[in-house]
Amino acid sequence: MSVGDPYIDDDHKGLIHLINRLYENAEIEGQYDILDDIAERLLDYTAFHFRREEQVLQACGYTALAAHKAEHDRFTADIHENRDALKPETAAVTARALAEYLKAWLSDHIQIRDAAYKPDIKGNDEARRVSALFGPGLYTRLHAGARHP
Ligand code: FEO
Repeated sequence: MSVGDPYIDDDHKGLIHLINRLYENAEIEGQYDILDDIAERLLDYTAFHFRREEQVLQACGYTALAAHKAEHDRFTADIHENRDALKPETAAVTARALAEYLKAWLSDHIQIRDAAYKPDIKGNDEARRVSALFGPGLYTRLHAGARHP
C-alpha cells in the first residue's frame, strides 16, 4: 500500500521483508545467530525509517506529527524489549512472538497512521526532497547487500 512517497514505500517493503525472514527462520532449528541478526537489523532499519518519515512530515508541516512520533517511540521501546528477550535456548518462540507483534503493529500503523499523512506528502516537492536526502529505501538497500542503513 502506497503512502505517497516511493522511498517510504520502499522502507515499508523492506521492514515487511525482514519480518517475513524472521518468521521463516523461526521455523528452523538452531537459528539463533540468524534470528539475532535479523532482530538487530529490524531495530536499525526501523530507527532509520522513523527518522526519514518524521523529517518528511516535519518538512510538510504535518499537524499530527507529535502523536505520530509518540507512536513510533512506543513501538521502538517495545521492540528493544523484545530484542533483549531473544536468547539461544528460546530463540524460535521469542522470534515468532516478535514477528507476530511486528506484523500486527506495522500493518495497523501503515494502513491507518501512515495512510493518514498521504494527502499531505503526495505531490509535495519539499517532502520528496527531504525523503530523497536519506537515500534509497530499505528494500532496495537489503537487495543491494547493505549491512545497515
Ligand atoms: Fe512508516 Fe509511521 O511508520
